[in-house]
Amino acid sequence: MLDLVQRPRRNRKSAWVRAMTRETWLAPDHLIYPLFVHEGAETVPIASMPGCARLSLDGLLREAEGALLDGVGAVVLFPAVEEALRGPRGDEAHNPDGLVPRALHALRERFPELTLITDVALDPYSSAGHDGIVAPDGRILNDETVEVLCRQAVCQARAGADIISPSDMMDGRVGAIRGALDAAGFTEVSILAYTAKYASAFYGPFRDALDSAPKFGDKKTYQMDPGNVREALREVEADEAEGADMVMVKPAGPFLDVIRAVREATALPVAAYQVSGEYAMLKAASQNGWLDERRVVLESLTGIRRAGADVILTYYARQAARWLREG
Ligand code: PBG
Repeated sequence: MLDLVQRPRRNRKSAWVRAMTRETWLAPDHLIYPLFVHEGAETVPIASMPGCARLSLDGLLREAEGALLDGVGAVVLFPAVEEALRGPRGDEAHNPDGLVPRALHALRERFPELTLITDVALDPYSSAGHDGIVAPDGRILNDETVEVLCRQAVCQARAGADIISPSDMMDGRVGAIRGALDAAGFTEVSILAYTAKYASAFYGPFRDALDSAPKFGDKKTYQMDPGNVREALREVEADEAEGADMVMVKPAGPFLDVIRAVREATALPVAAYQVSGEYAMLKAASQNGWLDERRVVLESLTGIRRAGADVILTYYARQAARWLREG
């Protein structure tokens, strides 16, 4: 017999003891469900994201109802905008009769208790597929873009958004949006800032879903370099000073150390986005029978929480909530 004082296995000896000593857990309250909406009347599956689809307005209402029944109380909307409505300045982004405002009105009316989150960025509306306005020489114009983003945010608030979520990564947009919302009387509308959003290859399936890939170049002059973590802290400081209510790290799985660093740098709630490519990997391996879907999904979400995220945006939100209910 070994003469051991420390036997950590004693705390793992039964389900009860393990549950009692568990440091991190997941609940449906921690999950935000991203949804894709389009103009069409049918539901169009997204090939690289099995289980996800572009929804009609009716389909969106059904999905939102399902989410509430599953215990997921927050959704974030992403529009697939018709090509004809896209332009160089993305002006459709602040059309009060546009797809997102109509979706917000419909959801707000049917489900007053559902938390409605909207994405602020120009890419779904931009003929160039960029999050900002593109100058003739290909540069992305920061301050001109921020002006349009402010209009987009106010338009969404007017249509019923509870939380505005700028994902564009322009400098100064959080403060400008806060000012624009307040000036329009929306002091209670919150801002969930995509604070540390990386120029990641994991957004591929999302861009398929919205047909929103950049027509030229990449997003590296506004989204962050995946090698950086100190820079994330600089972004946190800026967004916090500008009035962000919550900050986000995106993607989640490959950036757990960034989530941890951000958690330690701010008292604000931290969100993390398990993005389309992370979903696609888990889904593909599961469909092939190579991974146990339920276990890997719950493990990946637990890892993101353990790293320091309070809330997680995930395409698995409904499914995960159901698994958690089953226990
Ligand atoms: C657009 C936006 C993107 C995502 C959320 N908002 C794509 C991008 O920046 O190119 C990605 C989400 C995902 O991959 O699930 N501003």
